[in-house]
Amino acid sequence: MTLEALLSSRNTEWATPQDFFDELDAIFHFDLDACATPDNAKCPRYFTPADNALQMRWEGVVWMNPPYGREISAFMKKAFEESQLGSTVVCLVPSRTDTEWWHRYARQGQIIFLRGRLRFQGAEHAAPFPSAIVIFWGGRLGKAVRGATPWSPGSAAAGGSTSGTQVPKARC
Ligand SMILES: C[S@@+](CC[C@H](N)C(=O)[O-])C[C@H]1O[C@@H](n2cnc3c(N)ncnc32)[C@H](O)[C@@H]1O
Repeated sequence: MTLEALLSSRNTEWATPQDFFDELDAIFHFDLDACATPDNAKCPRYFTPADNALQMRWEGVVWMNPPYGREISAFMKKAFEESQLGSTVVCLVPSRTDTEWWHRYARQGQIIFLRGRLRFQGAEHAAPFPSAIVIFWGGRLGKAVRGATPWSPGSAAAGGSTSGTQVPKARC
């Protein structure tokens, strides 16, 4: 990677810390990284801006750490819609709880608010914003989760709580 690309990724790419991803991957066994470049892809199968993930079908269990600009809304919509078609999509997003996309899409998933701030891959410092994992359960995994746990507000599987849910701790 060139110095320019490295600096650019430090500033704008917000690449997932590898150890944080590895802990989630050990649970979910991701098939696809929906938003990536060859330099930061977390799975052997991934989509790049040239593929345009928004135009592709996302199959299997999907990791999505989207671009953090205004386009995040379109990616959250797509993640939610793909879960309706049968994929489980695990999203790492900034906790922007005042946004339209948060209320329209994120709240339909299981939300796990991360304690502390992530130090994104290649960054010298922790992020200036809090993060959350949003899980849109779909297909086989969705059936298993809904079958195992009553799907109601306040339950661990329904969102809003981390009790009973094992997630990696954010690095402060
Ligand atoms: C926050 S980074 C995540 C990188 C990596 N997947 C990870 O989790 O560490 C978001 C990535 O999405 C890529 N991206 C932007 N638009 C995209 C699109 N339309 N389709 C696929 N990837 C896209 C960017 O190039 C960037 O690498």
